[in-house]
Amino acid sequence: MTQDELKDRVAQAALAQVVQGELIGVGTGSTVDRFIDALAASGRRVAGAVSSSERSSARLRGHGITVLEAGAVTRLPVYIDGADEIDPQGCMIKGGGAALTREKIVADLAERFVCIADQSKRVPVLGAFPLPVEVIEMASAQLVRRFAAIGGQAVPRPGVRTDNGHPLLDVHGLRITEPLALETEINQWPGVVTVGLFARQRASLCLLGTPAGVQTLVF
Ligand code: 5RP
Repeated sequence: MTQDELKDRVAQAALAQVVQGELIGVGTGSTVDRFIDALAASGRRVAGAVSSSERSSARLRGHGITVLEAGAVTRLPVYIDGADEIDPQGCMIKGGGAALTREKIVADLAERFVCIADQSKRVPVLGAFPLPVEVIEMASAQLVRRFAAIGGQAVPRPGVRTDNGHPLLDVHGLRITEPLALETEINQWPGVVTVGLFARQRASLCLLGTPAGVQTLVF
């Protein structure tokens, strides 16, 4: 079974998490693209969606699903998004698709974060996937030095700007055994817009696509 087929499986399984008639938070990525398509095809009606990227907003609108600004919403029952890595506590690395800041903002509005991922994303310890960090450009060189001081090699992501207009660093070589402490630390560094560590906004549930079926991990 291919990775794409596993993504299709979890996208379908995530439909059961949709609260009909309510608003929904929608993330970004190839797994979420499949979820958006599955939602539209399912006939399940939501009151509207708050999206974490221009990419997902365009896809939602293309299916006739209303997209609301985050500022117009006080609460979402559920946020559905993918991950680049997820650990045994539901902490994640996200931002491979450069949408980490808006993903964190929408996740913060949600009562539950449902992670949808294929089994390759499940790891014992976060860090093999380079940690994305959205930064203010003038701080970039100093942040590269700060990451070096904790054992990370931060590399600017070439040719990429986020939907917010900022550059990204991808930090290689970290072994993240204490995600909450590291997220808290990096959040203090001047010039960091968002670190793609989701420990505060970790998953409450993960639907993991495996060849044997969709595994449900509750955190
Ligand atoms: C985007 C993300 C995505 O959720 C993450 O990169 C996973 O993407 P995919 O579903 O394509 O594997 O964090 O910023």
